Amino acid sequence: MCNGNRGEDLAFQSFSLLFIYKRDRISSVSLSIFIRLLLCLCFVTIIGCTWKPRRMAHSGVHKDRGELRIHENLDELGTDLAEYIAELSEASVKERGVFAIAISGGSLIGLMGKLCEAPYNKTVDWAKWYVFWADERVVAKTHADSNYKLAKDGLLSKVPVVPSHVNSINDSVSAEEAADDYEFHVRQLVKTRTINVSDISDCPKFDLILLGMGSDGHVASLFPNHPVLDEKDEWVTFITDSPKSPPERITFTLPVINSASNVVVVVTGESKAEAVHLAIDDVGADCLSLPARLVQPTKGKLAWFLDKLAASKLDGSQFSE
Ligand SMILES: *[C@@H]1O[C@H](CO)[C@@H](O)[C@H](O)[C@H]1NC(C)=O
Ligand SMILES: *[C@@H]1O[C@H](CO)[C@@H](O)[C@H](O)[C@H]1NC(C)=O
Ligand SMILES: *[C@@H]1O[C@H](CO)[C@@H](O)[C@H](O)[C@H]1NC(C)=O
Repeated sequence: MCNGNRGEDLAFQSFSLLFIYKRDRISSVSLSIFIRLLLCLCFVTIIGCTWKPRRMAHSGVHKDRGELRIHENLDELGTDLAEYIAELSEASVKERGVFAIAISGGSLIGLMGKLCEAPYNKTVDWAKWYVFWADERVVAKTHADSNYKLAKDGLLSKVPVVPSHVNSINDSVSAEEAADDYEFHVRQLVKTRTINVSDISDCPKFDLILLGMGSDGHVASLFPNHPVLDEKDEWVTFITDSPKSPPERITFTLPVINSASNVVVVVTGESKAEAVHLAIDDVGADCLSLPARLVQPTKGKLAWFLDKLAASKLDGSQFSE
């Protein structure tokens, strides 16, 4: 953000004034202007060259598409994400006594890895966490495709989350039964306010829902053009025809996602850059039904955690260096 041109202009003006001063020995008014300009130049140079966002390459707010946090690399993204989650956890525990967080699968869990390290492995109030899945594959919990297994191995087994607060699906029933069972379970926890409730939709109001996004723009197990995108009544629903294997999944519906206090979408890699553009930028009406674009928290806060490859097709020179 070092504004080189402005600095050069000021330098040029200062030197011009110096020249005038020497040649004509003009009044002290000019001298005072010169000194002010010189001070101003020093200030601009110092600010321009020392001010750098601490970790983020860029950040900004993109109209109604939420906050954009764009990172130089995965390491910086992981550090920022861990800090963001830790802060939401702290705020929620302070306000409600618990932190109800829903996660999903994919590369997200790996990117949350810094939560298992110092200082977060100590400072986060893990005993107050209630963990849910925004979507889950209907497979055994020991199966390599299980989002539960992914999170258990990569995160939950490494921090002192209370096992009874980990709300995984019943993996011994059909997709439809698993979805019904999961919704019933969520309802119980809404009744006791372990999960808060939205005052506009009666939907559960999770403190945080963490999502990834596919290169097709899917989030949770809400795939493009799938009828479940229109589901308004159920909180948790199921599909048996996922375009990505495994075919049977359960998923939070859009009303639940959009009732959360915070939604974070984490997207990395060049293969997702086009979908990021379609999900965030002002694009034609035919893209408005992209699942990731339908993530629009009614009252909550939406934040995108991107690496610069995923952000590479975003409109707007506001992010150019
Ligand atoms: C936290 O993680 C650090 C590594 O970053 C490890 O050295 C330390 O033992 C861990 N502490 C706890 C309480 O797990
Ligand atoms: C899963 O559902 C089956 C069939 O309803 C039931 O017998 C079993 O107890 C359930 N398992 C869990 C962990 O709730
Ligand atoms: C629960 O959500 C409602 C809005 O739905 C909000 O007014 C209230 O402050 C929340 N409760 C707590 C304890 O955060």
